[in-house]
Amino acid sequence: RRLLMLNGPNLNRLGKREPSIYGAETLEDIVADLKELAHSYGFQLDAYQSNHEGDLIDQLQEADEKYQGIVFNPGAYTHTSIAIRDAISSISVPVVEVHISNVHQREEFRHTSMLAPVCRGQVVGLGTMGYRLAALAFLEETKKG
Ligand code: DQA
Repeated sequence: RRLLMLNGPNLNRLGKREPSIYGAETLEDIVADLKELAHSYGFQLDAYQSNHEGDLIDQLQEADEKYQGIVFNPGAYTHTSIAIRDAISSISVPVVEVHISNVHQREEFRHTSMLAPVCRGQVVGLGTMGYRLAALAFLEETKKG
């Protein structure tokens, strides 16, 4: 059993990037933490980050039928990408959308998600803990059978 963690543009710079908004943890720290959590439930976790829209679409397509769930922080593509939305719609693996910051407290252009309507759910504004909570949604779900 496997989970996929996907991160979009600029999330490779976590820890350096606007730490007052996104915190001090690096993406490597978060990935290591999430792998450990997944392992404790008997899951494997694969992680992938890209700054390119098409790469993220390739990853979503390739994930189909291989994973129980996808934890996805699409970064700024959240607010713009019809192509990523179509990719999520086209696969049967459920996706939980994660945002580290509370996008609703920020600029107006961050208030809309193109992707939320085709995701299973959203975790917003709870810092990097949001990745854990999103993963737990899948991990606890499969525990129930
Ligand atoms: C983000 C929020 C987006 O608006 C922004 O473009 C990001 C990060 C978050 O995790 O809070 O890159 O997805």
